[in-house]
Amino acid sequence: MPKTTLLAIETSCDETGVAIVEREGSAIRVLASQLASQMNIHAATGGVIPEVAAREHVAALQPMIKQVIAASGRTPEQLDAIAVTVGPGLQPALSVGVNAARTLAYAWDKPLIPVQHLEGHVYSALLQHEAGEKNATQFTVPADDEIFPALALIVSGGHTQLIVMHSHVAYEVVGSTKDDAAGEAFDKVARLVGLPYPGGPAISALARTGNPQGFAFSVPMAGSQDLNFSFSGLKTAVLYAWRELSSTEQAERKADIVASFQHTVVAALALKTAQAMAEYEPKVLLLAGGVAANTALQEKLTALAQEQGVPLRIASGYLTGDNAVMIGLAALFAYEQKRFISWQQIDATARLPIGAFQPQ
Ligand code: KG4
Ligand code: ZN
Repeated sequence: MPKTTLLAIETSCDETGVAIVEREGSAIRVLASQLASQMNIHAATGGVIPEVAAREHVAALQPMIKQVIAASGRTPEQLDAIAVTVGPGLQPALSVGVNAARTLAYAWDKPLIPVQHLEGHVYSALLQHEAGEKNATQFTVPADDEIFPALALIVSGGHTQLIVMHSHVAYEVVGSTKDDAAGEAFDKVARLVGLPYPGGPAISALARTGNPQGFAFSVPMAGSQDLNFSFSGLKTAVLYAWRELSSTEQAERKADIVASFQHTVVAALALKTAQAMAEYEPKVLLLAGGVAANTALQEKLTALAQEQGVPLRIASGYLTGDNAVMIGLAALFAYEQKRFISWQQIDATARLPIGAFQPQ
């Protein structure tokens, strides 16, 4: 069985990621990976400023590539291809990774693999790692008939989607948010009540001490037959409820309001996931993206999957947020299909659907 070794780069938002992954048969190993977070820089401004993110990527990326290659025990000659996130994301940030990948592919004469960011999130959950393993570096590729059709719930700062896969690197988006993404709603509500950026982890921690029934927010899109989401109305409902409180009440009831908000987001996600499971009868349910780190959401989906007798796969802890390992994992399957692009044609694309590179 030939080995496939890929270098993967991710710079779509505020994390610079570089990884080298290798596949031999059904075994995949992460040979080396690094992640540089810009979280502290963006926390100071309460959100990500694209040009600032791009500048940080430029400073971090070059040394990381050198170090990751050195740590992998492989030489550039041994790499089979270079994979990079081309979108969606912040245009100036994406461009840094795309231009680095373009240059390396040209200089080393390697194929270039364009990866859509959400493909990475999907593959971080699809491939089997040791259960409970927080820092998985070894994965097993399951047999196709064990996993397809697969249903993925991708919840991140920029996206909330339900995706059905009938085979590798082929995606059908069956539900999306009509406005804010789930993570974005967490970030905006956190900012409203004075919690730090990013809002998800802060809300999730404070919600543990609050009453999720303290405020009755209605579950968005509960009555709709489709599989879409909407979180902007809920965010406004939280804003109005918050404004009605005196400053003493705000201090007393902050945990209750964020717990009730989180409870409602989780209920909306679980409701549409259940509807999609009934419709598509998946063999596995996947949960990935930054918001997949949320324990309330994990618990709710675990219960739902158990009820339906479908295994739930959640990305290994360090792979829920953005990283290059997941980009490398997805790229290994794109490589099999020779999904390459020339260095002249590759382009950072801020808005890019997940099916962008599959044959029509
Ligand atoms: O996937 P990700 O790292 O970046 C994007 O591709 O967007 O997701 C980041 C999002 C942020 O909105 C952050 O607030 C949210 O994931 N997040 C969480 C938690 N940890 C991160 N949301 C809820 N609960 C968490 N524990
Ligand atoms: Zn992401």
